[in-house]
Amino acid sequence: MEQAISRDQWSSRLTFVLAAAGSAVGLGNIWKFPYITGMNGGGVFVLIYLGAILFVSMPILAAEVLIGRAGQASPVGAIRRLSRPGSPWIGVGLLGVVGGLIILSYYSVVAGWCLDYIALALTGKLSTTPVDGIPSLFDELYVSESRNLLWHFVFMAMTIGIVVGGVRGGVERASRILMPALFVMMLVLFAYATTLPGFGEAARFVFSPSVDNLTSGGILEALGHSFFSLSVGMGAMLTYGSYLSRRDCLIQSTVSIGVLDTVVSLLACLILFPITFSFGMQPSGGPGLVFKNIPVAFAQLPWGGLWAFVFFALLFVAALTSAISLLETVTAHAIDEWKLSRKTATLGTGLLVLVLGIPSALSGGAGFFGKGMSEATGRSFFDWFDHIASNWLLPMGGLGIATFVAWRLSEELRHEAFTTGSGLKRTASIYRGWLILVRYVAPVGIVAIFLHAVGVI
Ligand code: PHE
Repeated sequence: MEQAISRDQWSSRLTFVLAAAGSAVGLGNIWKFPYITGMNGGGVFVLIYLGAILFVSMPILAAEVLIGRAGQASPVGAIRRLSRPGSPWIGVGLLGVVGGLIILSYYSVVAGWCLDYIALALTGKLSTTPVDGIPSLFDELYVSESRNLLWHFVFMAMTIGIVVGGVRGGVERASRILMPALFVMMLVLFAYATTLPGFGEAARFVFSPSVDNLTSGGILEALGHSFFSLSVGMGAMLTYGSYLSRRDCLIQSTVSIGVLDTVVSLLACLILFPITFSFGMQPSGGPGLVFKNIPVAFAQLPWGGLWAFVFFALLFVAALTSAISLLETVTAHAIDEWKLSRKTATLGTGLLVLVLGIPSALSGGAGFFGKGMSEATGRSFFDWFDHIASNWLLPMGGLGIATFVAWRLSEELRHEAFTTGSGLKRTASIYRGWLILVRYVAPVGIVAIFLHAVGVI
């Protein structure tokens, strides 16, 4: 295996884990997971999600990092190097680049809502609005085309600004400070939630599964979200893996990322649902859940405005570290494939995402991309992008990655790439177990869920 000498590398495994966890932990954990859990009836959805993480997404996460580290390039280049030029497997890498563009384009709009809420907190609007009026603050933002566009542009400008700095200077430095701050903030909010009267009911809602609530759409969504949440299936982790040194343990890194990400998602539910139940609100409130329920709760507290500011700053930080990884994947592709300078590549891809995000920013409005498409097709432009990217593109990409690593790579290369850097005693049996998962369990699971979703099974 050749090792590209000039390639950037993380300064240590801990930094890789922090940056990768920064990619994984994002709006998917704090905004999306609680609201789709609420809409899919709670416990049973959580259970399927946990199964999907353990048996499908986490093993594929390891496969993805493996390709990146062994191939020492961004998705397309790494797969080409590990197969051959012109190989159809390269399509898996291309799918990822397209997925990254799509996801970031609407992700940035939701991240923009956080910026708007930070502004609402700072200007005192969140603390001076009467409690009954707080939920409609979100409805106003949701339909406002100008505010959505403004914050989408601001957020993309910030993301571009960091990615221009490169792996060490930009991505790594930002994650090292922002990630630990995020965990501390989450724990403080969780401690507050345990004191609320609705905590017990919330814990039951999240942890006691009732099979009645199971739907095929819910199963597909749980699978798709396990990919989205771990940032698996589009090459983000592959790209980060390409900066991981061969001295570092792939197994430990993968497990730490998976556990951290899952803990944050469950914590988010255990912060949000106690508030929801304690203040007599509905768990199935949809995308507005975080933006409506959290400020309502804080409005009852002394220093409510400050709490709200801390919370949305947290959500913004989580979104930024994820957005960085999305843009970095597309940018690394442009740098490696088209030999562009980092600056040109970042600006070019960033601008592309900015433009591609405009219809999503207009999706709450009364125009074509919002009301028009919702009435005609049942989903706004934003909802289509989210549905297609997370429920279909990511699991498809994951399927490609799993089959490539499990069936195309030689046993010798795969074994070496998986175990190098591992000091664990049971490396050999972990390798065998993992191979069964990526070779049979994950592909069969993904295909079965696809067939179930289209009504074949
Ligand atoms: N994992 C991120 C989140 O949970 C989103 C993401 C998806 C980031 C895919 C990178 C790649 O918010």
